[in-house]
Amino acid sequence: MSQSNITHLSPKERILIALDVDNLARTTTLVEALSDHVGGFKVGLELLNSVGAPQVIQHMNRLGGHIFADVKLHDIPQTVGAATRALSSLGIKMINVHASCGKASMEAAVENKGQALLLAVTVLTSLTDEDCIRLYGKPAAEKVLDFAKEAHEAGVDGLICAASDLEAVNRDEALKSLIKVTPGIRPEWAPSDDQKRMLTPREAIVQGADYLVIGRPILNPPAGVGSPLDAIARITEDIQKGLEERTSR
Ligand code: C5P
Repeated sequence: MSQSNITHLSPKERILIALDVDNLARTTTLVEALSDHVGGFKVGLELLNSVGAPQVIQHMNRLGGHIFADVKLHDIPQTVGAATRALSSLGIKMINVHASCGKASMEAAVENKGQALLLAVTVLTSLTDEDCIRLYGKPAAEKVLDFAKEAHEAGVDGLICAASDLEAVNRDEALKSLIKVTPGIRPEWAPSDDQKRMLTPREAIVQGADYLVIGRPILNPPAGVGSPLDAIARITEDIQKGLEERTSR
């Protein structure tokens, strides 16, 4: 699947809730309450390692929530391929790998992804330029593009990008066709928490994001906003504005 297949997505389908919890009881409450109002749920290493990947995924499938397994695979091709196959067979919508695991490992993931979308993480936004130069010999903005190009050559469906990477990535014609999934989203009414380089939902969509990963602004909205469903309604409206702005450009 490529970017061209997802232009029809409605605003609500573009929201992926970051399910940063560590138990099935809280998972159940959130998925039951919110799954009809968003595109899916990002489950990460905390929940998958606290409860177990098959248990979490099978449980969420029974509840009806689409799953992005944020497992950030990084290993030799045989292992990445086998882990991707195991996850895909559980029935999930998206899986990710670190682009730094190399082209052969990403290709192994692509071969084994089944019906899931395979996304590549470029440079973690927790790394400073100094870290990036020490690790990869280049500042982050340059290394993101290198990793994105290699991921594209390996055949991935999309990239996990910091919002600040979107403009440079989308300037490259080949990379434009990839699906872009973006965390670091903060509506104007939400506190920044520990996020440093944020965009609002509207801004991220205008910059070319396809899916937005959003956690705390939905799970713990400010009192003035109301419930998680009230937060989703506001975010959906903001995404709609972004889509209108994007198409009128
Ligand atoms: O609560 P918040 O909206 O900040 O959650 C964002 C989610 O996206 C968290 O699960 C966080 O770990 C993840 N993430 C991120 N920045 C990245 C990569 C992942 O915030 N660069």
